Amino acid sequence: MARRLRGIMDAMSTGENGRSRKVLVTGAAGYIGSHTCVVLLEAGWDVVGVDNFDNSSPVALERVAELAGRPIDFVEADLRDSAAIDAIFAEHDVDAVIHFAGLKAVGQSVAEPLLYHDTNVGSTISLLGAMTRAGVFDLVFSSSCTVYGSPDVDAMPLIESSPTNAVSPYGRTKLFIEEMLQDVAATDQPWRVLSLRYFNPVGAHPSGRIGEDPVGIPNNLMPYAMQVAVGVREELSVFGGDYPTPDGTCIRDYIHVVDVAEGHLAALDALDTVEGFEPINLGTGVGSSVLEVVAAAGRAVGTPVAHRIVDRRPGDAVTVYADPAAALQRLGWKATRDLDDICVDHWRWQQKNPNGYR
Ligand code: NAD
Ligand code: UD1
Repeated sequence: MARRLRGIMDAMSTGENGRSRKVLVTGAAGYIGSHTCVVLLEAGWDVVGVDNFDNSSPVALERVAELAGRPIDFVEADLRDSAAIDAIFAEHDVDAVIHFAGLKAVGQSVAEPLLYHDTNVGSTISLLGAMTRAGVFDLVFSSSCTVYGSPDVDAMPLIESSPTNAVSPYGRTKLFIEEMLQDVAATDQPWRVLSLRYFNPVGAHPSGRIGEDPVGIPNNLMPYAMQVAVGVREELSVFGGDYPTPDGTCIRDYIHVVDVAEGHLAALDALDTVEGFEPINLGTGVGSSVLEVVAAAGRAVGTPVAHRIVDRRPGDAVTVYADPAAALQRLGWKATRDLDDICVDHWRWQQKNPNGYR
């Protein structure tokens, strides 16, 4: 059914009989999912979201509809529940799927690897089965730069054909799923799959209404720094000051979450040009050190963010950043927001919602 609609009115988000095209978004209530739903709704896509709220809040979905000024269809379900996913496809005329749902905490994945394989790989198997039964073969998948592992500095910037080598159970679930997607795309079914490998998504919607809402102590740099700035935590630990970088701290490719969201809109529109499976980096191509992030956060907040250099975090790569050329060439997309935009928007979200959605 989705296939028949292709090529009819792709420039607009409308299909057969002028109806809006509809995308199923898994993990719609999550950090990247919620921002992407706003961008999709604003672009004219109809959206049906699914989430089990394992790591998110229904409030995020209310705010998505408020920001977009349009309703979002939603089903609360676990993706591993095949019958529930079949029912979504039976009820909704879905043209394409964006698959965000999954678990993402590296440390937890080391402690509970089976939970990660069951949730991330199991959900994807369930979803692909339901898509096949419904005759929907267009998919955008949330992958991660973690599939590249901890490459040497001289391997930067990373291109899509750079060697993969996931070093955590979480990273391996992403790699296994990519391999599974390559396997299904190699069948005679008409799959068109874009696997978007995000670098470090940070920031928040400029309205300050939706953003990242980590449960407990944040594992990642930006939410931790912002919780220090808002007074929820005392001081940021900078993990390692003796790396072989200009200021001794690790370098990453931080990308605004709204740029990531817009990358998904571009990916949906580019699916027509995809044959089988294709990985694409979503990064800025610019590396920033931890101390540069801390300084940018201080500029956004208006006062320095308290921090102290401590021991290295085991397993951290020194320098990781993307070559974003393929995204520009294949999706016509590039990131447009810089580190200061990221910090200003993340700070607005943090200030307005010091306890997240709670
Ligand atoms: P998130 O935790 O905010 O969102 C994931 C959503 O999936 C949550 O709302 C959660 O409740 C839902 N979910 C989890 N298991 C589910 C299940 N079995 N059934 C239904 N819903 C389920 O995470 P995010 O940051 O928005 O990440 C989205 C995707 O992007 C994930 O697949 C993640 O691995 C990937 N990714 C994230 C980052 C990042 O830094 N945020 C980087 C690279 C890749
Ligand atoms: C993390 C994930 C990775 C995922 C990526 C996407 C881990 C170990 N890795 O990567 O799988 O693909 O996010 O966003 O979680 N830092 C501090 N103090 C802190 C927190 C972080 O100094 O309190 C430093 C880290 O050492 C690192 C940088 O900040 O150098 C970024 O860390 P983080 O935000 O956790 O992202 P990654 O480690 O790049």
